[in-house]
Amino acid sequence: MGRIIAGKTSDITPGKMIKVSIGGRDILVANIDGEYYATDDSCTHSGSSLSEGKLDGCTITCGWHAAEFDCKTGKFSKFPVKLRDLTSYDVVVESNNVFVEM
Ligand code: FES
Repeated sequence: MGRIIAGKTSDITPGKMIKVSIGGRDILVANIDGEYYATDDSCTHSGSSLSEGKLDGCTITCGWHAAEFDCKTGKFSKFPVKLRDLTSYDVVVESNNVFVEM
């Protein structure tokens, strides 16, 4: 699909995560200390929108049942049962625009 714009850097300030729809997929884009990361937005437990959960450092906590994932890698990190990792995507910033590579 290539490089798709997710928003302006000013829309995704440090410690914030947003959901963008790209090519029919919901993607979470987060800013961790000025670095941008992107993963699938849908929790691999029951499909909640992770961008409506909590971001603490690089840990995303699902708002429904508190599964945790690493925002930088998409790796599942904590839940009573093992869950699938999230797909993660490369992010490029150019001229204050945030692009997701898909
Ligand atoms: S839907 Fe995310 S932990 Fe259940």
